[in-house]
Amino acid sequence: MKITNDIRYIGVNDHELDLFEGQYIVPNGMAYNSYVIVDEKVAVMDTVDANFADAWLDNLRAVLGDKQPDYLIVSHMEPDHSANIARFAELYPAAVIVSSAVAFRMMSNYFGTDFAARRLVVGEGDALSLGTHELAFYTAPMVHWPEVIVTYDRTDKVLFSADAFGKFGALDVEEDWACEARRYYIGIVGKFGAQTQALLKKAAVLDIQTICPLHGPVLTENLEYYIRLYDLWSSYQPETEGVMIAYTSVYGNTKKAALQLAAALRAKGCPKVAVNDLARGDMAEAVEDAFRYSKLVLATTTYNGDVFPFMREFLHHLTERNFQNRTVAFIENGSWTPTAAKVMKGMLEGCKNLTYAQTDVKILAALNADSAAQLDALAEELCAD
Ligand code: FEO
Repeated sequence: MKITNDIRYIGVNDHELDLFEGQYIVPNGMAYNSYVIVDEKVAVMDTVDANFADAWLDNLRAVLGDKQPDYLIVSHMEPDHSANIARFAELYPAAVIVSSAVAFRMMSNYFGTDFAARRLVVGEGDALSLGTHELAFYTAPMVHWPEVIVTYDRTDKVLFSADAFGKFGALDVEEDWACEARRYYIGIVGKFGAQTQALLKKAAVLDIQTICPLHGPVLTENLEYYIRLYDLWSSYQPETEGVMIAYTSVYGNTKKAALQLAAALRAKGCPKVAVNDLARGDMAEAVEDAFRYSKLVLATTTYNGDVFPFMREFLHHLTERNFQNRTVAFIENGSWTPTAAKVMKGMLEGCKNLTYAQTDVKILAALNADSAAQLDALAEELCAD
């Protein structure tokens, strides 16, 4: 695949993976992107996952022909991109490895060598000329590991953005970008909003016409759309006016309340309502939705004097990703002493700028006239502002 006259795609699609990073389902697979810039000097941009070494090297050879690579630029040391550095270095002994100082320390840990005799350490604003192509490096710590650098090709106006602007999904499957890019960003980079904002500020002064991420499609058109979403996500602002109801239910009574609230919200004209069963749905999708919508309703059972385990896990995912700037409401169920709302509120204590709904819904085992009226009042309140 040709990105520009001199830049080629040499990445691979993975349809065998069960869980990306050991936890995220990837129904449409995963792409590990890698690129080559062919100039007087040839630069390879990152490697791919260990399971695809041969396919990647075949792609590389197909582009190189008789040429030899002069540089391997390593933007990120997570093994989905770095696994083949040592193999590349062995195959191409004259090539120089280019990366950040922190990345070379990680190479020692992964490969037992930091390539001291054949490395180029680069940092903020450093440049490298390939002949026609002038490359500039920028640090992007914690987007999403500390060693990350991004590379800007001044000649073709291409940003090699590392994990930023990546998504789940292989490139041979057509799907909406935002859905899987959001789940990827919130799940994987979500904790590091401030650092992503710092990267966006650096990118804002560059004339970027193409973004080449390490996952997902190369972005060539309407870049403002992608940058605007990244800005919203990394500044923890809601993307969609609407309500996300996250629930757990043991015998169906809490579920009934969650669905009844959703129906009431829809009946009152609430613009968007999403409902997630935390025990049965994809937890990463639920976490994504919590960050997407402006309002969150937490409905759960009291369990061992605490909250139901899936709700505890869900709230932990939110707090570790700096959940903030949202309206939150509680529906608690308890057959004898409901404590779930108090526990959930306690778990959210450290979150910035949360507004709690005035209406709490308390269910004693099953919905009755009182709790149904509370549900209706909550729907009214959530629709009002
Ligand atoms: Fe795609 Fe953070 O590795």
